[in-house]
Amino acid sequence: MADERDAAAASGGSLVFAVNGERFELSTVDPSTTLLHFLRSQTRFESVKLSCGEGLGNIKDGFHPIHQRIAGFHASQCGFCTPGMCVSLFGALVNAEKTNRPDPPPGFSKLSVSEAEKSIAGNLCRCTGYRPIADACKSFAADVDMEDLGFNSFWKKGDSKEVKVKSLPPYNRNGDICTFPDFLKKEIRSSMPLDPKRYGWYNPVRVEELQNLLKDNDFDSANEMKLVVGNTGTGYYKELKRYDRYIDLRCVPELSMIKIDPTGAEFGAIVTISKVIESLRKNDNGGSPSREIQLVSEAIW
Ligand SMILES: Cc1cc2nc3c(=O)[nH]c(=O)nc-3n(C[C@H](O)[C@H](O)[C@H](O)COP(=O)(O)OP(=O)(O)OC[C@H]3O[C@@H](n4cnc5c(N)ncnc54)[C@H](O)[C@@H]3O)c2cc1C
Ligand code: FES
Repeated sequence: MADERDAAAASGGSLVFAVNGERFELSTVDPSTTLLHFLRSQTRFESVKLSCGEGLGNIKDGFHPIHQRIAGFHASQCGFCTPGMCVSLFGALVNAEKTNRPDPPPGFSKLSVSEAEKSIAGNLCRCTGYRPIADACKSFAADVDMEDLGFNSFWKKGDSKEVKVKSLPPYNRNGDICTFPDFLKKEIRSSMPLDPKRYGWYNPVRVEELQNLLKDNDFDSANEMKLVVGNTGTGYYKELKRYDRYIDLRCVPELSMIKIDPTGAEFGAIVTISKVIESLRKNDNGGSPSREIQLVSEAIW
């Protein structure tokens, strides 16, 4: 603990975050601590459950329309994936509200059908099947065709569009759900560096710093070191090998660079494939892309 405190003090950083709008500040934290363990052992939120989606609503305070629509569209069978589906959709709804799109009709959100479908694209369901889950998500979309929504407990076959819309559990776009509190936005300074001696985790913030790390004699054995971009693939890809050192490239701005002009396109090494597609699409709509860019665009999608 003393080492960790020294590292945090030396970096001048502390971890500041909010739980249900309440501010917490930690001068040091063991990176293997799970949020669940922290909540149960060091806050008054002692009854938090693993895989819990109850922050959105619960039996005591009332369910969120996401819960109600998931239930009404029969979109939860064993329930294992349901909390993840709910919070993924909730995140998409919050992000859609941040856009300057026109206000949707009452009961709907600024989300589009395509975004509603994409919001759960990374979540796997083993038993319900995706159609009812996607229907529950799409029921929030401003551009949804009500005829496309499948079997549910809200309306009967043959009901008019107006009756269907009225039967959906109401969605209030200004609902009192705690997201990212304003006081935290003012406190964002940087990521909290971990003590590399202890955790073998390096966060270079400049290309030169990265080059120096790679030149360092301690890094001469390629087997011991891995370049990562957040390392979120761990767990998904069952790699059992543990490396002594990880270099996280996320904070090197040049590696996230995207430059597209009539002479060609240039992408930093850590730009995600979805960002590449998005930026090529934007370029495609905006101007007259070169033949090469057109070819790359066609090859990717
Ligand atoms: C959470 C969940 C809920 C589901 N709900 C439903 C539902 O409500 N309705 C529905 O129709 N489907 C449902 N399914 C799908 C359904 O369970 C599967 O499609 C079905 O069980 C697949 O059967 P299976 O025999 O192919 O494989 P499994 O059910 O996985 O059966 C494989 C069996 O073979 C045994 N086995 C494996 N290897 C060997 C071996 N070498 N020698 C001897 N035995 C071996 C295993 O122990 C296991 O008992 C659900 C699936 C999940 C995960
Ligand atoms: S509801 Fe069972 S895994 Fe999705």
